[in-house]
Amino acid sequence: MEHSGGCRSVTRATSLLSICIILLLTFFPADTSAHNVTKILAKHPEFSTFNHYLTITHLADEINRRETITVCAVDNAGMSDLLSKHLSVFAIKNVLSLHILLDYFGAKKLHQITNGTALAATMFQATGAAPGSTGFVNVTDLKGGKVGFGAEDNGGTLDASYVKSVQEIPYNISVIQISKILPSPEAEAPTPAPSQLNLTALMTKKGCKVFADLLIATGALTTFEDNADGGLTVFCPLDSVINGFIPKYKNLTTEGKVSLLLYHGVPVYSSMAMLKSNNGLMNTLATDGVNKYDFTVQNDGAVVTLKTKLVTARLTGTLLDEQPLAIYTINKVLMPKELFKAALAPAPAPAPEADAPKAADSTPSAAEPIAPDGEPADQTADQNDASGLRSKVGAGLLVATLVSVWLGTFMSV
Ligand SMILES: *[C@@H]1O[C@H](CO)[C@@H](O)[C@H](O)[C@H]1NC(C)=O
Ligand SMILES: *[C@@H]1O[C@H](CO)[C@@H](O)[C@H](O)[C@H]1NC(C)=O
Ligand SMILES: *[C@@H]1O[C@H](CO)[C@@H](O)[C@H](O)[C@H]1NC(C)=O
Ligand SMILES: *[C@@H]1O[C@H](CO)[C@@H](O)[C@H](O)[C@H]1NC(C)=O
Ligand SMILES: *[C@@H]1O[C@H](CO)[C@@H](O)[C@H](O)[C@H]1NC(C)=O
Ligand SMILES: *[C@@H]1O[C@H](CO)[C@@H](O)[C@H](O)[C@H]1NC(C)=O
Repeated sequence: MEHSGGCRSVTRATSLLSICIILLLTFFPADTSAHNVTKILAKHPEFSTFNHYLTITHLADEINRRETITVCAVDNAGMSDLLSKHLSVFAIKNVLSLHILLDYFGAKKLHQITNGTALAATMFQATGAAPGSTGFVNVTDLKGGKVGFGAEDNGGTLDASYVKSVQEIPYNISVIQISKILPSPEAEAPTPAPSQLNLTALMTKKGCKVFADLLIATGALTTFEDNADGGLTVFCPLDSVINGFIPKYKNLTTEGKVSLLLYHGVPVYSSMAMLKSNNGLMNTLATDGVNKYDFTVQNDGAVVTLKTKLVTARLTGTLLDEQPLAIYTINKVLMPKELFKAALAPAPAPAPEADAPKAADSTPSAAEPIAPDGEPADQTADQNDASGLRSKVGAGLLVATLVSVWLGTFMSV
């Protein structure tokens, strides 16, 4: 009897393990997207410069995230022409994003365009960086099997032509070569460095005036501005949200107020695509040695949430997403445990570190030694790989916890 009961438990535990693994795959999908444009182009050394700039502008992440996309690559000679214009990296990003068409054009479709001509929407237009209705590319099937390409804002001139197909994965991604970079006055226009942007004016205009005013009043703004060029992500609580929080805010010391505000900034650039694909711990501008002031980014499908031990906030909008600066709105004020310990404690008695809640807390803190404790200013794009690793370790720990909890439940039955 006991023997067969044990077997049943093991079988059930095994099927629960499968359920856990399925859950893991559902909530923590592997970082591998359907395609990897960096890898595709790496096989062709003549596109190494183009490939390099896709990476440093983070356009590669955006391309990998999307489906039904066409990348119009130019060879190293074509890229030299672009680089000789000495544009800022922000303008180069705009120019290259004009070369990413949000539709699938394989060699076959290029020669079978309905009515012989089409305007394709591009990533330049989709990111909102393109003014007005610019950011479209005219693709026209010309005589003799030629296909011409031109930026719509370039007076209808088809400057470039189709050279060859580099790789097609229908209908996810098509990488084609075109003869030269498409000239576009709009895309090449000087883009102000992010440090030149008036952050508070932007926030004020888009529903985060209270947060902006607090940044100015406390002087915390300087820290945000200092990080703007090197990479910065800001999560702004909307006015309605922060207004309700003011009693708690007023209760903080002057130093606490600054820390709370700095807690809403992360000293690395995180595009929406990166937030959606990299779950894990994030250090903030308030992080200072033993005071971690970190939170966890977790996404569930299209929804990105930020979790502290006290509150889970949801991203509700994007004010700006232009490398190296991203500003999002959130629906709750992030409360760090460092400032609101009292709210965490189970009893008002000043008991030193109650034992019971510790067990529940052990999973996140077990992951902490893996997180790099470097200076926030030292964090670079590599941080994203690190947070990817951390999210996997975190997911692993979560599964281990789930499995042991389930096993424990069934062993005791
Ligand atoms: C295209 O993308 C979808 C969704 O990501 C994926 O399931 C499919 O396998 C991809 N197709 C190819 C041929 O890679
Ligand atoms: C894409 O491929 C490149 C080069 O092979 C690799 O370094 C990078 O990690 C890959 N990216 C993803 C998201 O898998
Ligand atoms: C093709 O041309 C016809 C006649 O000029 C027009 O009615 C139709 O809308 C065009 N189709 C597209 C996809 O532009
Ligand atoms: C594309 O450009 C050509 C040449 O200037 C023009 O004849 C054609 O109408 C344009 N196509 C569209 C869809 O605007
Ligand atoms: C930025 O905008 C704010 C209004 O939000 C204004 O008070 C401030 O003077 C501006 N700063 C600069 C440097 O223009
Ligand atoms: C302010 O702080 C005191 C002492 O920590 C606490 O008892 C009180 O609840 C706090 N008030 C608010 C509005 O958070």
